[in-house]
Amino acid sequence: MHTLLVTGGAGFIGANFVRSHLDLNPSARMVVMDQLTYAGNLANLDGLAAAHPGFRFVRGDVAERADVEAAFDAADGGVDAVVHFAAESHVDRSIDDATPFVRTNVLGTQVLLDVARRRGVGRFLQVSTDEVYGSLGTTDQGVDESAPLRPNSPYAASKAGSDCLARSYFHTFQVPVVITRCSNNYGPYQFPEKFIPLFITNAFEGMPLPLYGDGRHVRDWLHVRDHCAALEVVLKRGRIGEIYNIGGRCERANIDIARAVCRATGREESLIQLVADRPGHDRRYALDTTKIERELSWRPSRGIEQDLDELVRWYEEHRAWWMAIKSGDYRHYYEKMYGVRLATAKDR
Ligand code: NAD
Ligand code: TYD
Repeated sequence: MHTLLVTGGAGFIGANFVRSHLDLNPSARMVVMDQLTYAGNLANLDGLAAAHPGFRFVRGDVAERADVEAAFDAADGGVDAVVHFAAESHVDRSIDDATPFVRTNVLGTQVLLDVARRRGVGRFLQVSTDEVYGSLGTTDQGVDESAPLRPNSPYAASKAGSDCLARSYFHTFQVPVVITRCSNNYGPYQFPEKFIPLFITNAFEGMPLPLYGDGRHVRDWLHVRDHCAALEVVLKRGRIGEIYNIGGRCERANIDIARAVCRATGREESLIQLVADRPGHDRRYALDTTKIERELSWRPSRGIEQDLDELVRWYEEHRAWWMAIKSGDYRHYYEKMYGVRLATAKDR
C-alpha cells in the first residue's frame, strides 16, 4: 500500500490520472489537493470517495504553504509520492494575464517542493509539457530531453520555470524529482476552452470552429489514458533526477484535426472559420520519445483518428457537464479575444 498526493486532480489530466490510478490500485491511499479554479471541477471526481476508502479531497492553493501543509497532514502516515499536475494551463489566458501563471506554476511549484523536501517524499513527479522547448520548423527533428528550453508563451515560460525549480531541488536538496514533458492531450473531461473539446462541442451546436491563423500549426496528439499510463511507469521505474518526454508520434496540422472533427460529428467543413492568429503562436511541437520507449517500454496505443468517434460519443453523453462550463464566465473573455460566439445552453 502506498500514499500519493496528487495536486490539480480535479482538472483534465489529473482527474483521468486519479481515476486510472485508483482502478489499478483500488486500496491505494490518495490525497487530491486542488484549488478548484475555473478549470477544476469536483464533478470530474464523482463517485471516487464512495468507491475508495483511501481517497481524500482537500481544497487548497499550492502557492499557500499552509494549504500544502494541510494536504500533507491529510495523508496521515506520510506521502510516498507527489504527482504535481496543478497549474494554470491555457496559453490564451496566459497572453491575457500572466500573473496567475507565475503565481501557481512557479511559486506554487517552489512551495510544494519545499514542503516535500522538509516532510520527505519517495518521489516528486513534475508533470510538464513539450511547450517548454519552444517552436520547431517544419522539417526539424523532434527534440530530445537534452534540448534547450526556449519557451515562447507566458504559459510555457512559467512551466519552464517550474521545471528548473524542480531540477534545482533535486541537485541542491536531493528531493527525488522526476520530470515528464508531454505533448498535447485529448480525452474525456478536457475543459472546453481547449482546441479539440471546443471544436467538438461547437460542432454539436452548429457553431463556428475558430481556427487560428492559417490553421497549419502542428501539434503532436496523445490520448490522456496513454499519458496516464506513461506517468505510471515513470512513477514506478523512472530514474530520479531524469526527464522523460512523452509523445504520441501523432503530428497533425490543426486544419486536419478540424476536418476530422467535422467528419466525426457529421458537420459540414464550412463551420471552420479562420480567425485572428494567437499572438506568438508556436508553429510546431514535436518530441523525440526514444528515451521512455527504450528505457521504460512505454508506447502510445492509437492515433487520434481512431479515438475521435469514441471521444465525440463521450462529449455527446456528457452534454450537461460541458454545457454548464460553457455557459460560465469564460465565454465573455473568449469572445472578447477572438470575436467568436460559443455555444451555450441558451442556443439549444
Ligand atoms: P487543467 O487546467 O485542466 O487542470 C489544472 C488543475 O489545477 C485544475 O483542477 C485547477 O483547479 C488546479 N489548480 C490551478 N491552480 C491551482 C492552485 N494554485 N492550487 C491548486 N490547484 C490549482 O490542466 P490539465 O490540462 O489537466 O494539465 C495538467 C498538467 O499537465 C499541467 O501542469 C499542464 O501544464 C500539464 N500538461 C498538460 C497538457 C495538455 O495537453 N493538457 C500537456 C502536457 C502537460
Ligand atoms: P490548445 O488546445 O490551446 O493547446 P496549445 O496551444 O497548448 O498547444 O491549442 C492547440 C492548437 O489549436 C494550437 O495550435 C492553437 C489552436 N487553436 C485554434 O486554432 N483555435 C482555438 O479555438 C483553440 C483553443 C486553439
